Amino acid sequence: MKLDRKEILSVLETITIAGEGKNMVESGAVQNVLTFGDEVVVDVILNTPALHIKNRTESDIKKVIAEKFGSDVKIKVNIKVEVPEKQEHTIKGKPIPGISNIIAVSSGKGGVGKSTITANLAVALAKMGFKVGVLDADIYGPSMPIMFDVETAKPISVEVDGKSKMQPIQSYGVEILSIGFFTKPDQAVIWRGPMASKALNQMIFDANWGEIDFMLIDLPPGTGDIHLSIMQSLPITGAVVVSTPQAVALADAKKGVAMFMSDAVQVPVLGIVENMAYFTPEELPNNKYYIFGKEGARNLAQDLDVRMLGEIPLVQSIREAGDFGRPAALQEDTPLANAFEELARNVVEETVKRNDTLPPTEAIKITTMAGCSAVKK
Ligand SMILES: Nc1ncnc2c1ncn2[C@@H]1O[C@H](COP(=O)(O)OP(=O)(O)OP(=O)(O)O)[C@@H](O)[C@H]1O
Ligand SMILES: [Mg+2]
Repeated sequence: MKLDRKEILSVLETITIAGEGKNMVESGAVQNVLTFGDEVVVDVILNTPALHIKNRTESDIKKVIAEKFGSDVKIKVNIKVEVPEKQEHTIKGKPIPGISNIIAVSSGKGGVGKSTITANLAVALAKMGFKVGVLDADIYGPSMPIMFDVETAKPISVEVDGKSKMQPIQSYGVEILSIGFFTKPDQAVIWRGPMASKALNQMIFDANWGEIDFMLIDLPPGTGDIHLSIMQSLPITGAVVVSTPQAVALADAKKGVAMFMSDAVQVPVLGIVENMAYFTPEELPNNKYYIFGKEGARNLAQDLDVRMLGEIPLVQSIREAGDFGRPAALQEDTPLANAFEELARNVVEETVKRNDTLPPTEAIKITTMAGCSAVKK
């Protein structure tokens, strides 16, 4: 079969390098394709030194070319690694006085436990001594009012420096605002992109949050327009992506990570949390049953070159705690509370790492792990 350069490029277009949203031709990773008789030479530039990505890229290229042109074709892949200089993060929106870090909790797929993770991470961070806020941005089904047992609460307006501001509701040491405080349960769905972004902007800019170390945003499921507009209008420090171990959830988590890393959004991904990682019966706390498969999220994290922040088991009491409005992370020294504490520690660690690359103008207080103890109660 004659080797055609165009056809080779078109098979290379089926390859996407881990962590990049575009295929390798579109992203410019393919520098050159040359053919000599029955030999193909592909020159590639990668912007990551990760060996597994290099190996994967080489084997993917060989595989797609051999599949198309037969196994007799000699394929040579030259890979050059050029790591771009550390890019300074572009700060979008206006920095918010008093709010140091905004962390978006997201998932591609719905129902994987974003809200459960948000509530418990918030409680675990508050237990570590941080000042924590939760902004429930789930316009389709706000859950923070139930999870924090403040379903009937209505934020009042307070006057701050001559302006009236919304006072967040406090529960378990966490400051909370939710779209659910302003809608009836069956009304939430009428919120649409622009209207929802406006309401969210008000909840963040026109509220009396005070000093907040970590503001967690519980996002609606998916990767749609509403996500884009939230991401673009708020200076988000980083994103935490939640997935369960099933293949469908992992595929959607991957889309979620790609959305954050895309040019339009540019929010650093702090890492992935695997929820419902394994099932543990309450009466046999040392038994772990991997009913949805094992290590799927860990492999995805490795593939995408992001941190695996934690593994949270599937336990009946987590659901009950959520429904009763007493997050499981409030427990003292149980395996469950410890799992959420470890997650919180890793989120702090990744936030610190990420903030090391920020220009000094932004109001970021926590820049070292030592800084964490400085804000401890
Ligand atoms: N680790 C867990 N163990 C047991 N139950 C869990 C766990 N995580 C979440 N759940 C339960 O699963 C259900 C869905 O969780 P949750 O509401 O947190 O998901 P979500 O991703 O926020 O959903 P949505 O996409 O609808 O916003 C809830 O009933 C919750 O209590
Ligand atoms: Mg939710």
